[in-house]
Amino acid sequence: MTERLQVGAFRLASRMTDVAPSAVREILKVAEQPEMLSFAGGLPAPELFPVEAIAEAYAQVLAEEGKQALQYGVSEGHGPLREWIAARLTQRGLATSPEQLLITHGSQQGIDLVARALLDRGDRVIVEDPTYLAALQAFSTYEVTLVPVPSDAEGMQVDGLEEVFRRERPALLYIVPEFQNPKGTSLALPRRRKLLELARRHGVPVLEDDPYGEIRFAGRAGPSLAALDSEQVIQLGTFSKTLAPGMRIGWVRAPVEVLSRLTILKQATDLHTSTLNQRAVTRLLATFDYEGHLEKLRKVYRVRADAMDQALCRAMPPGTSWTHPEGGLFLWLQLPAGIVDDAVFQAAIARGIAVVPGHPFFARGLDHGHLRLNFSNRSEALIDTGMGILGEVVGELGAAASRAVVQGVASPRPRP
Ligand SMILES: Cc1ncc(COP(=O)(O)O)c(C=O)c1O
Repeated sequence: MTERLQVGAFRLASRMTDVAPSAVREILKVAEQPEMLSFAGGLPAPELFPVEAIAEAYAQVLAEEGKQALQYGVSEGHGPLREWIAARLTQRGLATSPEQLLITHGSQQGIDLVARALLDRGDRVIVEDPTYLAALQAFSTYEVTLVPVPSDAEGMQVDGLEEVFRRERPALLYIVPEFQNPKGTSLALPRRRKLLELARRHGVPVLEDDPYGEIRFAGRAGPSLAALDSEQVIQLGTFSKTLAPGMRIGWVRAPVEVLSRLTILKQATDLHTSTLNQRAVTRLLATFDYEGHLEKLRKVYRVRADAMDQALCRAMPPGTSWTHPEGGLFLWLQLPAGIVDDAVFQAAIARGIAVVPGHPFFARGLDHGHLRLNFSNRSEALIDTGMGILGEVVGELGAAASRAVVQGVASPRPRP
């Protein structure tokens, strides 16, 4: 039996025992102070939120369908919104009917619903290492064991996966195949095929989280996992990165019989996603140039990703490397040997620059050699300034580490 925590007068459920406070959330509290130049959050560019169009959509909804928009709605979600999303997914190569879709409060709720539906205490969940931190947290509340599988520039390494499936008999594999958080890398097509072939053979359900697929600014899109195998894969989507995260509109796409079970859980959780927000998004999508808006986003993010790449080339000492994303919001920087992510975080904060240390994104939190950098949220000029200071910080820590080694005070941090 897991020991239960006592918090004041309250004895918590055993599922709360292993739920650590999010290190990154604490970091973001510091990072998002107004005087900080932050590259820490996963924030889209707020100047690109279509604020006026959204305001107009809300006004129209309230004027023309106010009574329905303020009433309870069905748990599956607003019919016309499900139809729009189904048509969009179909147009992007994933044939989808509205009956396969459940509207959720962001894709984060989709992660939780799928975990609740599929996972029992003690189950094994395969995750990329590193992966999206809030997914690790969501899974850990179901008292499961996370089984990290290493990744490289082409995403999860699938060579050893069969052995892992045999040994662990996992109840779920969670993956972000496009512009992964935190690395910005994508899963190569041959790996997608191999992963699905193994998942089918070993009966492992796959949860494909795709918040960034629409934000591709370079290269060509390949098929999603769900497009390659609609029966084995549950896919999550969201408007958080394309419209605005504050609206909290996402969706789950799953085989109809699975979706009906998830809908029961959704009902038990919050009855349904905000009717007003769903109708406003539906109205917005019917009246505004979504494709043009996405083009604008992709253009700006591409410029910012390039600016960060070039600024890092100028600023970083030898021994530093980083990923070169073709979309999404992040890149992943590997520090020179001997430099610890927390030390960079502390020294950068002291100079007014916020970044996220990499170790919380690893299931076991043991790799201290990386930083996650967000490029979507700052102008080119600020990216240049910020990376310049970060380069100085890393250079100074590197010099201090080499001095310590020469003097025999410390040995370089081994790479895990
Ligand atoms: C991989 C991944 N999944 C899910 C989410 C949550 O998105 P939403 O706002 O739709 O809940 C994020 C947000 O950063 C993410 O990076």
